[in-house]
Amino acid sequence: MDSTPPSFAVLFPLLFLTMTNFLALPNSATRIASTMKPRRLHAKLFHYNSIFSPTYNPADTVADHATYMVQNSAARLAYIRSKVRTSLASSNDVQTHLDIDRGIFLVKFSIGQPPVPQLAVMDTGSTLLWVECKRCMSTNDCFDPSKSSSYATTSCEDAKCDSLPRKSCDTDSNQCKFSIAYENLFSTDGVLSTDQFTFETFDEGSVVVPNVSFGCSTTGAIRGRKFNGIFGLGDSPTSLVTKLGNKFSYCIGNMNDQEYRYNRLVIGDGADIEGYSTPFEMYRGLYYVTLEGASMGDLRLQFDPNVFKRTPQGSGGMIIDSGAELSYIPETEYSELYGNIRLLLDGFLQRVIYETERWSLCYNGSVNRDLVGFPAVTFHLAEGADLVLDTGSLFYYKEPQVFCLAIHPVRSFDIPEPDILSIIGIRAQQNYNVAYDLTGQKLYLQRMDCQLLDD
Ligand SMILES: *[C@@H]1O[C@H](CO)[C@@H](O)[C@H](O)[C@H]1NC(C)=O
Ligand SMILES: *[C@@H]1O[C@H](CO)[C@@H](O)[C@H](O)[C@H]1NC(C)=O
Repeated sequence: MDSTPPSFAVLFPLLFLTMTNFLALPNSATRIASTMKPRRLHAKLFHYNSIFSPTYNPADTVADHATYMVQNSAARLAYIRSKVRTSLASSNDVQTHLDIDRGIFLVKFSIGQPPVPQLAVMDTGSTLLWVECKRCMSTNDCFDPSKSSSYATTSCEDAKCDSLPRKSCDTDSNQCKFSIAYENLFSTDGVLSTDQFTFETFDEGSVVVPNVSFGCSTTGAIRGRKFNGIFGLGDSPTSLVTKLGNKFSYCIGNMNDQEYRYNRLVIGDGADIEGYSTPFEMYRGLYYVTLEGASMGDLRLQFDPNVFKRTPQGSGGMIIDSGAELSYIPETEYSELYGNIRLLLDGFLQRVIYETERWSLCYNGSVNRDLVGFPAVTFHLAEGADLVLDTGSLFYYKEPQVFCLAIHPVRSFDIPEPDILSIIGIRAQQNYNVAYDLTGQKLYLQRMDCQLLDD
């Protein structure tokens, strides 16, 4: 029973050739516009499962992580749907009472004078940056505004207060109050504030940004979680991104490598704007891209591009997201991908079927050993930007011996497919530098090892 199965590359020599050619591309691709700028805000990003992250739990098993990832992604899908809900859509079909206690990527920074360290969840789907003030538990470093000499509250007349989606005014103190509801997760409210932020940079230095707008939450919503708040990267007058020049980029390496230390977030003019670009559209605080097609190796998949367009009523479309780990596509397109993967792998690897999610696609085997030469899946975005998912981006381990497709279907039920929202999750963005130019409304994708970026 110990015989090694034949290598995939032996069975599919042509595909292997395609893969090799493809792999040669990113290395020779030229890098553009990486000139150093002064005051480059360059922060480390911590994957929740990295040994360097305060959220790391050595007792967690592969199965624990898979469960967390699937639940967290489903909760994220529910949250995003609730943000763009139309009369057609209903979120009854998603699980309730899901919870995020770790997030996926965490940003480390300090607030105030003297600086108090914070850990917040990077979120391209939130426009407000907020942290828990006062009432967090002892495991977190609490920011107490009364102890910071640079802290100020924002008045109700301030234009920034006006720009908040849900606000109120405390007329006694003339303080602008914000409120955010994360459907099925938690809600928070507090005072819109400003203070100095300090970021540690990759070259062991630090960057101080004065007068940053953020929400100082006073509800204790974060209690029991391993982060202090949400690091919103959406486009809004309050956002740090807007303040620093309307650009940011992040680079994500191999998420399965718990010792990978080069994941990073750059905000402002120093953002790493590299590679091919595709237009994006901001809608309800989310980054919508245009998917024109998909392929697997040289095979063009039968994806209907109309299904990935936002309808005139605002439903459907495809977003690129940092808060969902998995990706989501409509059932018909999922079936096409699923069918083509099965054509290659059935009869070569043993399928594993889970009764609770019979639609998922899982195999008994090892991605590194058994999928050598497996064709990459490419998402073709408008104007020629490709997002290439190699096997490490396409599959995740559900058990030590079982890997599953990291793209899940969104069931239609009675909802027409064009009303279904698709998501490009962060697992699909591994080994990419992803840059957002909010002024030019372009997303830049460059496949690379984050280690190669300038410090
Ligand atoms: C901070 O920004 C606000 C606008 O939100 C402005 O009114 C205030 O003068 C700024 N303070 C400093 C110290 O720059
Ligand atoms: C995977 O295969 C191994 C070896 O054939 C076997 O021992 C194990 O039970 C299988 N696991 C599953 C989940 O099917």
